[in-house]
Amino acid sequence: MGTFQFILQYIKKYRLQYAAGILTLLVVDYANLFIPKLTGTVTDGLAARTLDWDGVVSCLISIFALGFTLALGRFLWRYFLFGSSRSIEREMRNDMFAHLEKMDVEYYNEHKTGDLMARFTSDLNAVRMSIGPAVICVFDASVMTVMVICQMMYYVDIKLTLLAVIPMLLICVGEIYYGKIIHKRFLKRQEAVSDLTDFVQESFSGVRVIKAFVRERAELRAFEKANRNSMDKNLQVIRLQSVVMPLLDVVIGLSSLITLVYGGYLALVGDITLGRFVAFNQYVNMLVWPMLACGDAINMFSQGAASIRRIREIFEEKPEIADREEAVEVEQIRGDIVFSHLTFLHRGHSEPTLKDINLSVPAGTTLAVIGRTGNGKSTLVNLLLHLYNTKPGMIWIDGRDINTIPLKTLRENIAYVPQDNFLFSDTLKSNIAFGTDDWDMEAVVRATQAACIHESIVAFPDGYETIVGERGVTLSGGQKQRSSIARALMKDAPILILDDALSAVDTDTEEHILRNLKENRAGKTTILIAHRISTIQNADIILVLEDGEAKEIGNHEELMEKNGIYRSMFEQQQLDEREKKL
Ligand SMILES: Nc1ncnc2c1ncn2[C@@H]1O[C@H](COP(=O)(O)OP(=O)(O)OP(=O)(O)O)[C@@H](O)[C@H]1O
Ligand SMILES: [Mg+2]
Repeated sequence: MGTFQFILQYIKKYRLQYAAGILTLLVVDYANLFIPKLTGTVTDGLAARTLDWDGVVSCLISIFALGFTLALGRFLWRYFLFGSSRSIEREMRNDMFAHLEKMDVEYYNEHKTGDLMARFTSDLNAVRMSIGPAVICVFDASVMTVMVICQMMYYVDIKLTLLAVIPMLLICVGEIYYGKIIHKRFLKRQEAVSDLTDFVQESFSGVRVIKAFVRERAELRAFEKANRNSMDKNLQVIRLQSVVMPLLDVVIGLSSLITLVYGGYLALVGDITLGRFVAFNQYVNMLVWPMLACGDAINMFSQGAASIRRIREIFEEKPEIADREEAVEVEQIRGDIVFSHLTFLHRGHSEPTLKDINLSVPAGTTLAVIGRTGNGKSTLVNLLLHLYNTKPGMIWIDGRDINTIPLKTLRENIAYVPQDNFLFSDTLKSNIAFGTDDWDMEAVVRATQAACIHESIVAFPDGYETIVGERGVTLSGGQKQRSSIARALMKDAPILILDDALSAVDTDTEEHILRNLKENRAGKTTILIAHRISTIQNADIILVLEDGEAKEIGNHEELMEKNGIYRSMFEQQQLDEREKKL
């Protein structure tokens, strides 16, 4: 699909408004022509003394009535055309958001938030300008130019008109070149805007690190550089505009000069009347706006074209993870999981993160995954959530290849506590009920009690209405983790995944939560990822990952007997505990 078709699909929806807007524009342009004519008539009438007071009054009334029609018309075309372009902007923004929501997590690893935000704001704004004001400029300018020139030729003099218009033709030729150059400069400018937005966004999110490492000055310098770059790119645009815009004035001045000299001569020798000479001058002045409008329209179109290119880049990216054709709806997932020769290679890595994992987790059991940092524990559960694609036959849920389960069903049946437990800038209540559509306060409290966070929440002055995150209070690491656990428990899904979700809570609370989990999750599958053996020793199956390989599988007793990695980890941690107590 070309850029033009892309825009057209949106414009088509508003074709009636566009048609109405353009029609009113034409009416306004046509009505506009009568004002110089009326002034000419009055001038001639007064000069020849053929116009009496009544005649003047009736001309004035006509001018007034015309003025009123023009004002109404101008309101209407603004209403139709500006309104449509705003609606299109809104729809395009909705579509962009919907499209971006479909993109894989990998996409967000590779694209900067600030850059995406710039496309949502400044680029969309430029697109709106090119489908609203620019369209008006073009229509208005070309229709008005043609009508005015016809009037000049018909009502005044052909030769005079042609002479006055020649300089304006120069503008048309010049503007084609201008358009090409300015387009490139706009593209660079938008990139600079993206970089700047990105920089600001990252600095503010990372403000704690910046402060802790006393990097404010360095950040400021880097910001100044990005800001200067943005200014330079803006200046490059403005420099070109400020050369071209006065040139327009020169050309228009030239037309006026020709009118005065040659038109004056024609009036002197009596080829045209004084009134027509006056009217002609007004017509020449009426051409000033179309000329300027053409310049503006070219600016807006070039900018819009540069921006639409950046917006289409978003739409052109298709999610790699999507439902396959063979995906069939399942009623209910029981939570029986099998990994069969699971090997997975992350993009950009040469060694697989997971190597030939074979494991069966019957429905209703608890699987614990333990292993040193960077050994692929989070990757394993991300694969279960189908956040990355795996080859067919490697992961089975309830006897079905994960690739044949619709994404929505799969993810609806898994409750997940991510390692970074992100909370939204919203009330605690909404955060906890985030994954559930129908909920009541009782269910929320049940979930928070199980996650041992209820007491802390009610101790806040606003209780469950406390706003957390950027707009509200800052929760401690452990409070955040437990709120995240409550959010997952609220979902009550057949499969629950806790990715290192107890790392920031003390051992007593951990024990408490684990006991609650056991009760809550009876008969349902639970996957626990942890670094501490105390967290997982009661699990039915323990998987020890080392260098992406399933080194040991079994329950606590079996693994202790094996006398391998697990046992040495256990002993090491016991030793550490004892040392801590001493
Ligand atoms: N999206 C990604 N793209 C590329 N590589 C990744 C991605 N996510 C993780 N990795 C790599 O995969 C390896 C395993 O990471 P993973 O997050 O699964 O480890 P982990 O066992 O959960 O570690 P931790 O205990 O620190 O949470 C690491 O080497 C990491 O660099
Ligand atoms: Mg991890």
